[in-house]
Amino acid sequence: MPVVRGKMIETLFSPEVIATRNTQMAAEIVKGRNDDLLVISVLKGSFIFAADLIRAMHHAGLAPEVEFITLSSYGTGTVSRGVKIIKDIDSDPRGRDVLLIDDILESGRTLRFARDLMLERGAKSVSIAVLLDKKVKREVDFEADFVGFECPDYFVVGYGMDVAYAFRELPFVGVVTGDADKI
Ligand code: IMP
Ligand code: MG
Repeated sequence: MPVVRGKMIETLFSPEVIATRNTQMAAEIVKGRNDDLLVISVLKGSFIFAADLIRAMHHAGLAPEVEFITLSSYGTGTVSRGVKIIKDIDSDPRGRDVLLIDDILESGRTLRFARDLMLERGAKSVSIAVLLDKKVKREVDFEADFVGFECPDYFVVGYGMDVAYAFRELPFVGVVTGDADKI
């Protein structure tokens, strides 16, 4: 099991498995609505997945414009929980087919907010691609159009995803299982 900065990290999805799935997802995406396509990577967690998926989409024949939006959740109570824009996109989605890319679909709040925002701004269509889907954590009625993998109910790190700002750089998706010096 890999040890990174004193933590044992069990691999859930290897770089090879992820790369194969990205190619398959790009082949699915190319069959969808792609007129004047605007791809929006939802930061920060999706930056590595988006970089790989966008290149797989290029190999599948697509030439999207690429944008970035940084979103953050706030509040912990069920009533007050919401999503805010930390850094917005620069382009206008009006009349365009939009593909939102995110790392994990969990409660569904972040991506529902992003989809509704783009529709309010006049996007012609909004589809959603996520690397991981944690279905058991869903709190709102929301599904993605393209899903890399169903994710077990663990807190995962790597391939762009962090715990307390660490482990985004790992080339695989894993689970922190403990301290390496305690075995
Ligand atoms: P939600 O769907 O609004 O609950 O938000 C999902 C977001 O929470 C994802 O985009 C991630 O940024 C973050 N997140 C959820 N689960 C995990 C995890 O297991 N590891 C790292 N980040 C996570
Ligand atoms: Mg995120």
